[in-house]
Amino acid sequence: MLSVEISYHNRLYYDESKQEISDYEYDALMQELILLEKQYPEFAQADSPSLRVGGTINKNFQQVKHQYPMMSLGNTYSMAELTDFDQRVKKVLGQDKVAYVCELKFDGVAISLWYENGLLIKAVTRGDGVQGDDVTANIKTIRSIPLSVKDSHIPEKFEVRGEIVMPHKGFEEFNKQRINNGEDAFANPRNAASGSIKMQDSSLVAKRPLQCFVYYALGDHKYSQSHSESLKLLKVWGFNVADYMAVYSNIDDVLGFIEKWDEKRKELPFDIDGVVLKVNDYHQQEELGYTAKSPRWAISYKFKAEQASTQLNDIVFQVGRTGAITPVAELEPVTLAGTTVKRASLHNADFIKDLGLQIGDCVMVEKGGEIIPKIIEVDLNQRSATSTEFKYITHCPECGTLLERKEGQAHHYCPNTTHCPPQIKGRIEHFISRKAMDIDSLGEGKIELLFDKKLVYSPADLYDLQAPHLLGLAKIIVNEDGSTRKMVFREKTVQNIIKGISDSKKMPFHRVLFALGIRYVGATTAKKLVAVYPNMTDLMQASYDDLLKVDEVGEKIAESLRMSFNNPDFIYEIGRLEFAGLQMQEELEERSVQDNKLDGKSFVVSGVFSVSRDELKKQIEYFGGKNVTALSGKTDYLIAGDKMGPAKKTKAEKNNIPIISEEEFREMIT
Ligand code: IVH
Repeated sequence: MLSVEISYHNRLYYDESKQEISDYEYDALMQELILLEKQYPEFAQADSPSLRVGGTINKNFQQVKHQYPMMSLGNTYSMAELTDFDQRVKKVLGQDKVAYVCELKFDGVAISLWYENGLLIKAVTRGDGVQGDDVTANIKTIRSIPLSVKDSHIPEKFEVRGEIVMPHKGFEEFNKQRINNGEDAFANPRNAASGSIKMQDSSLVAKRPLQCFVYYALGDHKYSQSHSESLKLLKVWGFNVADYMAVYSNIDDVLGFIEKWDEKRKELPFDIDGVVLKVNDYHQQEELGYTAKSPRWAISYKFKAEQASTQLNDIVFQVGRTGAITPVAELEPVTLAGTTVKRASLHNADFIKDLGLQIGDCVMVEKGGEIIPKIIEVDLNQRSATSTEFKYITHCPECGTLLERKEGQAHHYCPNTTHCPPQIKGRIEHFISRKAMDIDSLGEGKIELLFDKKLVYSPADLYDLQAPHLLGLAKIIVNEDGSTRKMVFREKTVQNIIKGISDSKKMPFHRVLFALGIRYVGATTAKKLVAVYPNMTDLMQASYDDLLKVDEVGEKIAESLRMSFNNPDFIYEIGRLEFAGLQMQEELEERSVQDNKLDGKSFVVSGVFSVSRDELKKQIEYFGGKNVTALSGKTDYLIAGDKMGPAKKTKAEKNNIPIISEEEFREMIT
């Protein structure tokens, strides 16, 4: 059978690195299978190898409630705390010896895989731990995840959890390709992996070099007595279980394992950020149980961020869309956590001053959890005798205007908002970005070309563009590695651009407001403003004091809004956008019934939850509820988490305010 034949070649290629047929022949077989499945869908198998190629488009991922909450792990950076953990475990279990499984802590994206009757039926992201996104079609394209498991002993239903990672080699190549295509590079493999599994088109996911390591088996009945046995079984069933693990009954051996991997992680082909320690025996795990957030039978030891020393070659300055100046360190390229680092953000003038940086210095760079590497110290012993103090710029590096820095401000700003090129381009780039007007047929490179050709100076100019203006425009683009390519606007590109711009006219008012790029007005603030002022005229007329009354609008935001609405250029721009047909009022009834489940209800959130309190508050708002800080007669519900203070409870009871648990809250919204 065709699908069996293709699966055979897949196995040969991926498991044994062998090839019996050419790529061309393989593609032809696959095309034949896809065609047959289209013609006779009733015969398409649930684990067909064609699923690896993708093809499903997912506009919105469905939210799925986890069968078992996806908890996090308690973590520590200290070996002493691991010894404490060991003591605690032994005390609770009343044992003087406990076996632990030591595993690598993969630095990627967690995934939950559901199998029924041997078939992969669902793949769900972690989400908020209680519910996540259904990303099944995308996950099916990852070859290290079995689409079906064939073994006579498999349970009817079971769940496996693991981590999706993008190995270094694939990451570097993939980023190079993105840069060549004029797209932004991903900052690290974790971001690339998480961006990939959330893509709408699964055939694109199929092209991303993703891998999945599994590390946890769940199910109503366990298929073995211990975690290590389960992992062995998973391996037999065809899952990708990492070889790098060990079972120890002595905490000193555990510490040795950690030390070894802290050093050897540099040689691994993918990122890890620590070691996970798990009590091996399932009965013991059960006895230890769980806290609200994590199992008491496991802990993760996190490695300190990797550091490397290199030379500071120069400090250059970037001008953002709001005119903020960001100094950037240009470094002698150095490998750090598997990727090459050439630049580091220096944030602002004070940061440079506090470090005492001088050009030519030998510096220590670190890549922590954050995206951009940072310089943490200067090696003064290696400073050259001729090195001189670094002088911060006084004028905009792009337009030459004298920079301003108001009291209390961290950044210097270029005040030339209307004529400074990166500010103009930055504003348009922000305007078209995904969270704003989402015009994905345009991008940084194309905006640059339109600006260079003097066609677009402001977002409103986009709506005046017509196909003949664009056809044939061309530009040579210099890639990061110095190579060049030519970007030409051909007919198809032009059609897409015009369509993207025209479609954006349907974007709701809160998106338009965010897209305008008013300083400090982010996507959430824009929503809050629109909830109170559903049309532009009212919002523009709102006084500083009125604005302050809007939830989460403070002095900084109110001042910035008033400044923008008093600026004649800005008012003119809004007028042009309105004339072009953009939405300047929100159709409040547009919100679906689904999203309005908590309409108008006020909540007080107190205690510790399975997600952060901010996350919980966001969910309340998403469903139309209101967050209030103090309990009063008007409060509708108190959501009580772990460790909530007794005073809150008494007050709620006194005022007859229903006290609900996190679970009960979730039931209200699902
Ligand atoms: S076990 C209930 N094992 O780390 C415990 N997690 O901070 C389930 N992770 O959400 C997790 N490598 O995404 C486990 N070998 C490993 C892991 C691992 C990476 C991630 C996972 C989890 C997070 C917890």
